[in-house]
Amino acid sequence: MMYAAIMGYGTIGSGVAQILEESRERIANGAGQEIALKYVLDLRDFPDSPVADRIVHDFQVIESDEQVKLVVETMGGLNPAYPFVKACLNAGKHVVTSNKALVAAHGTELLQIARDKGVNFFFEASVGGGIPIIRTLYRCLRGEEIQEITGILNGTTNYILTKMDREGASFDEVLKEAQDLGYAERNPEADVEGHDTCRKIAILTAMVTGKEVNYEDIYTEGITKITDMDFRYAKEMGASVKLLGSSRRKGGEVCARVAPVMIGKDHPLYAVSGVYNGILVKSDMLGVSMYYGSGAGKLPTASAVVADMIEAAQNEQMNIPIGWGEQRQKVADIKTAECRYFVRIAGTFKEKADLIRRTFGEVRTFVLEGADEFAILTRKMSESEYEKQAAVLDDECRKSGGEGIRQRLRAELED
Ligand SMILES: NC(=O)c1ccc[n+]([C@@H]2O[C@H](COP(=O)([O-])OP(=O)(O)OC[C@H]3O[C@@H](n4cnc5c(N)ncnc54)[C@H](OP(=O)(O)O)[C@@H]3O)[C@@H](O)[C@H]2O)c1
Repeated sequence: MMYAAIMGYGTIGSGVAQILEESRERIANGAGQEIALKYVLDLRDFPDSPVADRIVHDFQVIESDEQVKLVVETMGGLNPAYPFVKACLNAGKHVVTSNKALVAAHGTELLQIARDKGVNFFFEASVGGGIPIIRTLYRCLRGEEIQEITGILNGTTNYILTKMDREGASFDEVLKEAQDLGYAERNPEADVEGHDTCRKIAILTAMVTGKEVNYEDIYTEGITKITDMDFRYAKEMGASVKLLGSSRRKGGEVCARVAPVMIGKDHPLYAVSGVYNGILVKSDMLGVSMYYGSGAGKLPTASAVVADMIEAAQNEQMNIPIGWGEQRQKVADIKTAECRYFVRIAGTFKEKADLIRRTFGEVRTFVLEGADEFAILTRKMSESEYEKQAAVLDDECRKSGGEGIRQRLRAELED
């Protein structure tokens, strides 16, 4: 029998307790021993819950109980999650977390403590919710060289973009609806500004390269500037806009970014809609593989936590080598990254054709009926080249007393 504790009895923590209770026998068979929940740490009491008799408010109770060998952290945030998790690992306890903020900020140190202490620090639920992507990387794709990983990693923003696409609604309208339905936080910044996706792609990149990735090195752009006009063009082009976190190996560096991208119907992530997540992996032998499922939610996420608990119980006496070391991965300057650009420009193509040719060369053009603007799709170019040409275009438009570029999005579209 292995005794466990849960820290944080919120959405995910209560889901973990529920699965441990409802699937007790299956979990015991998988783990090779029963996993018994001894404590649940939270700020509140839950008198009507099934764990009412196990609620504690003092972390020391868990830390100092030598019987407790496995601790789940589902409190979120860094404080006190970080000092508590560190103390548990130092006390020789296995730790499982769903907390991407913790893993992205302190993963390197926590993984090293786990190695030193011969225990495990697992974090499957921190990326892609219930989708088993972390385990896929360190087990199933162990023999592969992974060249690229691109994902729709945030259900809230994918829900908003899907609604905008299907219903032609504005960003603000859909955000409010998502908040009313509980899909988006009252303070949605971490989701809509791309910070959540950034931490997740940083964790995936570190898993793939075996080196620490500073999430602050990753260029991050959110979806707040996406408008219904963008989706009108997207429809015309047989495309859609998705918030993608991506990282690609380039020599010793990785090109990593978080940004809304125009992708076509032939892109494997095009069909990932609503609150679902999808992760595309390109590796040398397998080629393209994709992982799809519920990226959040009580039971899907708790299911990933429980899978980690089972693996920890199966390997009670040993550290499973996963994650990354202290060496820092170099992230390439975003200015060197190459892609096509979808650009919306005020006025008519006819009056600006020469200027467009001088700046961007040959482009595809798109015109919407009744619109006082048009759009172009450039060839592939580096970010710095795009910025240079866009500045020239804007400058010339301004000199002739008009408006220039209204929107620019990266595009992964074939001709
Ligand atoms: N929700 C999802 O779908 C999802 C999916 C994937 C990953 N995650 C991650 O999982 C973690 C938990 O998310 P959640 O949605 O379950 O959050 P949540 O519902 O807010 O639950 C957190 C719980 O921890 C408690 N808590 C906070 N500070 C504490 C402290 N100092 N001591 C003891 N208990 C404390 C909270 O109590 P109070 O409510 O009283 O503050 C709350 O009950 C986060 O890192 C999140 O990013 C969530």
